Amino acid sequence: MAAPDQTLILIADTHIQPHPDDRLDGEDTFANLNAVLDRIASSGIVPDGFIFAGDLANDGEPASYKRFAVAVSKIQNTYGVPVALALGNHDAREPFRTALLTHPPSTERHNEVVTVGPLRIIILDTLVPGRAYGQLGHDQLHWLSVQLGIRAESGTILVMHHPPTHGGVEALNHILLRDTADFHETIYGTDVIGILAGHVHHPTAGMYAGVPVWSGPAVAYSLDPCWPGETFRSITGSGFSIIHIRRRTMVASAVMMPGMQREIAVSPITASLLERWLQPPPV
Ligand SMILES: [Fe+2]
Repeated sequence: MAAPDQTLILIADTHIQPHPDDRLDGEDTFANLNAVLDRIASSGIVPDGFIFAGDLANDGEPASYKRFAVAVSKIQNTYGVPVALALGNHDAREPFRTALLTHPPSTERHNEVVTVGPLRIIILDTLVPGRAYGQLGHDQLHWLSVQLGIRAESGTILVMHHPPTHGGVEALNHILLRDTADFHETIYGTDVIGILAGHVHHPTAGMYAGVPVWSGPAVAYSLDPCWPGETFRSITGSGFSIIHIRRRTMVASAVMMPGMQREIAVSPITASLLERWLQPPPV
């Protein structure tokens, strides 16, 4: 079997917290991220690039991005390959840019094109400040359309925190990507060969506009898809994905870290929670 044309590591939903003593439902998310990075380092995998699929910080805190930046530097120093960063609903653009990009603070969307040899990776920004669902918006879709007007030699991977497909945890389906029809129109028939996402905190595969969609396991904790829809069940469980590209075909493998899937919270989906989730975007 020939080696993959490209091997990418997808890391989703790190939810890094500001201080070393902080815990998220008992989970040390920064330790989880370091354990994932150690596992990758000890595996002998030679990645061509790393992709983070959003919810980098747990609540957009500047100190969380400073801690996250340490992990990104470690990756860059170890592998010397591109590290692509997407934002999720738990992120905040200004402190992210200040800590990770050393750019002037800005609330503009963070989207960019990253090339891994002949493969193009386009990072999209689905963050709607103060909302759990995602939206790309007309301007960003126009920008994407312009990018896709020129084909990449090995095709294009799109990275976005909110997947355009429904997932297996029913309650989460209220807070997915909103402008899916416009997104479909933008990417259908282009050179996009795969969509990588996070947000749903369990490995989920789907198909959209003729393109495979993979939402990778989260680093911070997992959500249980085998559970009644009126509550969330959060469980321990951390992982990442290995993405192989061969001849413009994307294949994703979930790697779960060792440990029990211990229950850490069961959260009801109440009417007031739904009302808050479904508020229109701020103007
Ligand atoms: Fe998340």
